[in-house]
Formats: sequence, structure tokens, C-alpha cells
Amino acid sequence: MSPLLVELEDIKSQALSELAAISDSAALESWRVAFLGRRARLTEILRRLASLSLEERREVGAAANLLKENLLAAFQEREARLRELDIAQVTQLGRLDTTLPGRPLPRGRLHPITQTLRDVIGVFQGMGFQVVEGPEVEWDRYNFQLLRIPEDHPARDMWATLWVDSSSAGGGERSMLLRTHTSPNQVRYMERHQPPVRIVVPGKVYRFEATDATHDWMHTQVEGLAIDEGISMADLKGTLEEFARRMFGEGTKLFFHCDYFPFTEPSMGMLIGCAICGGQGRLANGQGCSTCKETGWIEILGSGMVHPEILANVGYDPERYTGFAWGIGIERIAMLRHGIDDIRLFYQNDLRFLEQF
Ligand code: DAH
Repeated sequence: MSPLLVELEDIKSQALSELAAISDSAALESWRVAFLGRRARLTEILRRLASLSLEERREVGAAANLLKENLLAAFQEREARLRELDIAQVTQLGRLDTTLPGRPLPRGRLHPITQTLRDVIGVFQGMGFQVVEGPEVEWDRYNFQLLRIPEDHPARDMWATLWVDSSSAGGGERSMLLRTHTSPNQVRYMERHQPPVRIVVPGKVYRFEATDATHDWMHTQVEGLAIDEGISMADLKGTLEEFARRMFGEGTKLFFHCDYFPFTEPSMGMLIGCAICGGQGRLANGQGCSTCKETGWIEILGSGMVHPEILANVGYDPERYTGFAWGIGIERIAMLRHGIDDIRLFYQNDLRFLEQF
């Protein structure tokens, strides 16, 4: 009998008796290294097999491989058993209280502007308007020129503009800017689609403006556009009234007034009773209401009948088609709904504010 077989027997009894005494995972790992690792005696023997005589190799090889399999199986069994013991022990010692409630996962929520934006869009979708979007970096051509606001025209002063390339500030066909309103999408859409048109275009717009309680350098608009045969001002008014009813509830006080926009004729603004002061212009403590500038009303949108020149510019026949458009300010609406008196709160990312919605 080969002396190696004796050694294998020896390894086996030593390994199994040591394994039986192991009670923690660190010791188990040391055991694995000692008996199955690269320098283990068994591994040495397996490595030397090739240099043995044919007969010895057959005998010893079979026994060594069998031993390796046995040790591996014993190791895995011990490992599983230890894990069970661990859990049982922790539970018994009371260190793991399985009756405790789980840790609550912090839940995210939508930004108040996103919430209001989705509600506004939802109302118009319910009336058959389709949602489309356009770029925030815009050409002068779409933001101004195709909306009947030529270069050097004083109407440009209605929109203090952030130019992307300051060398082009003031205008020119190929000047780039941050869109000052969502209205360029009226033209963008009509250029690619034939009437009838019923779209709403949500998005951020930018103004080079000093900020105060009701103005910020960025805000959110929802543009609306409807073009078809036979559309009149009455359709515009009816659509906006229906919007106000669905958004703010029955009996909401509305006020329409004449306005001016280069891209509509006639133009009209819509105001809503100020929710901060209840339309009084004064707060309960007697102070003037800064949100509505003491008027009792807040302007939430501009609108009007799309100017025939704009229709002609995109290839629509203005004798056949008419339509209306509007631009709604979403921050103002969110302020009205929640009684917020400062628009700047929306983008300061103060969780004490945001977590209230
Ligand atoms: N674009 C205008 C603004 O931001 C709002 C506006 C007024 C949009 C009249 C319209 C409109 O579509 O018809 O001040």
C-alpha cells in the first residue's frame, strides 16, 4: 500500500474532527484554507500525482479526489449549519426583535409646480387638446420675428431677453436666446401640421428680469392653440371659462380685460380673484396684499385671436381659418391654489416648503 494512502487517511480524520469543533465563520474560513487551499497537504498530493508510477497514480488519484469531494461537501454542510445557528442565537438572545415594524422608506413626491402643471394639462386634454413640446433654447426668428415682433421694434420690450450668445443680443435671424415664452411653438407646430389644430405646449421660459414676490427669472407656461374654420372669440372665452371652472371650481371669480400682444388681434387677459386676500386687496391684519398688488385680482394668462399674418406666414389661408391662443403662467396658479405669497419659494429647494405638498 502506498504511504500516500496512509497520509490521505490521516488528513481525513484530522480535517473532519477539526471541522466538527468549528463554531464561527472565521474559523471555518481558516479550516478551508488549511485543508482545501493551495498549500494544503491534499492539494500537494493532487499536484504530485503526475510524477507517480502508473499503478500508484491510479490508486492514490482516486482516493485523493474522493477525499477532496468529501471535504468540500462537509465544508458546505458546516457552513449552512453555522448560518442557521447564527440566526437562532441572535433571535434567542433577543438582539433581533422580529416584532419591530420596518424602517419607513422616505417617499419622494412631485414638485408643486409639476403637480399644478399636470392638473392644468389634464383639464385641456379633457377638452381634446394634444400635448406637444419645443426647445428652451430658441431662435430669434421663432421667439419674435414670426410672431410679428421685428428686430428693433419696441414690442420687444415686453420680454426682457436672455441671449445665449451675447454678441447677437438685440436680434437678427440667426440669434439664439432662451425662449421668453412658449408662443414660438405655435409657429413651430403650424409649420409642420395642417388645421384643425388643438395643442397645449408646457415648458419653462426665461426672462432677464429683477425678481420679486410675483416675478422670477424663470417660470412655467402652458401655451394653447386652436385653429379651425369658424373659430371665434366666443370659443376662446368659453374655453377659458371652462378651464377656470374645472381648475378652481364652480363660481370662481374671473375678470377679462383688453390687452395687447403682437401675435393676437384682439388680445385679452384673464384675471382670477386673489386667493391670498380673498379678493379684498388687504390682508386680515390690515396690511396691503403684495401678491395682487392690492388689486384683489391676479393675472394668470394672456390670450387672443391669432393674427391673420401669422397664419399666412405658415401657409394657412387666413380667409378660411381662424383661431385662438393663450399663454398661462403656472406658478401664479400654484400660488393661488395653495395660498403662497412669494413665487421665489418654488425654486429655493427648501424641504420645509416642498414637503408641504
Ligand atoms: N406669450 C405671452 C407671454 O408670455 C402670453 C400669451 C399672450 C400667449 C397671448 C398667447 C397669446 O398665446 O395669444 O407674455
